[in-house]
Order: sequence, then structure tokens, then C-alpha cells
Amino acid sequence: MNTPRSGGGARTVAAGPVAFTLNGHAVSVDAHPMARLLDVLREDLGLTGTKEGCGEGECGACTVLLDGAPVCSCLVPLAHARGREVRTIESLGGDHALQRAFVAEGGAQCGACTPGMIMAALALPEHPTRERIRQGLAGNLCRCTGYEAIYRAVERAASETVATPGASAAAEERKP
Ligand code: FES
Ligand code: FES
Repeated sequence: MNTPRSGGGARTVAAGPVAFTLNGHAVSVDAHPMARLLDVLREDLGLTGTKEGCGEGECGACTVLLDGAPVCSCLVPLAHARGREVRTIESLGGDHALQRAFVAEGGAQCGACTPGMIMAALALPEHPTRERIRQGLAGNLCRCTGYEAIYRAVERAASETVATPGASAAAEERKP
């Protein structure tokens, strides 16, 4: 992968169901503790918005937030999520400022990279510069767009609010 984005840090592996917070809700999954978080999300929990590309930590398509930090869920054992907060693309609800901006700017073409791009963008700081956006998304590969449209989309979403793309997520979620 182009930037350091690991599996979320080493944790002791314990047997039994793994409880964590998923998109704001408590969940408990009875699966092998070394199962990939990507598979648990997609197959055990039915959240197929998170995509698999390389399966080796190189493309970023599987990016989710673990305690607010982007990680490659193909590299994260389920056990590492125990007691932590996992956030996936489903938490945005489909009409988030970033999602609208990706459509408006042509930042989503085939869409394979888009959920991972958006999750990485959510972790950016307030008012990210173009260079900071490049850095934050450097671990996410796109075959289609040439990246410019993606960078513009992130900038567009950030400009729609005085808060950050991540903060705008919170604002969006407070909508009735
Ligand atoms: S599928 Fe996880 S980094 Fe490519
Ligand atoms: S939109 Fe196709 S890989 Fe990025």
C-alpha cells in the first residue's frame, strides 16, 4: 500500500463472540477471531458496501474506520475490533455530502474504489488542503478517474460546511 495503513494494531486474540460498535450500534459476532473484518462485515453482518479489491492491503477498497482511523479491513482480524468502534460506508446513508460530491464531480465511475475513498476522506482533518487530501487518500487506488475528480469531490464536500467532511457526516446524521 502507498501509505502506512495497517490492520489497526496488535491485540490479544481471545476466543468467543467479539463485541464491538458498528455504525453506532452494539453488535456481537460469533466468528473465528482471526476472520477478516472485511468478511465479517460483508458475510456475517450483511454490509456489502465495503468492497474487496486486492485482499492484500494494497488498494484501499476495503477501507473502514476503526476508532476513527482508516484501516484496510482485509488486514484486520475480527479480534482486533473487540470493544472498538467500526464505521462503514453504510453509516452515511446514501445522501451524505461526500457521496453527493463524488457523483457531482465524477469521482465515482465504476465505483469499486468509492466506498473506501469516502471512508478515507471522512478521516481527513478540518479544511484539508489539496496536498493533505492527496496524502489522506494515497492508500486508495482508482483505475478510472485519474484522481482529480476525487480530490475535487472531497474539496466540494468540505466547502459545503464550515466543518470537516467527517464533521459534516455528524451533521448529516442529525438530519430528521
Ligand atoms: S482489498 Fe483491502 S486493501 Fe485491497
Ligand atoms: S471509480 Fe473505478 S476504480 Fe475508482
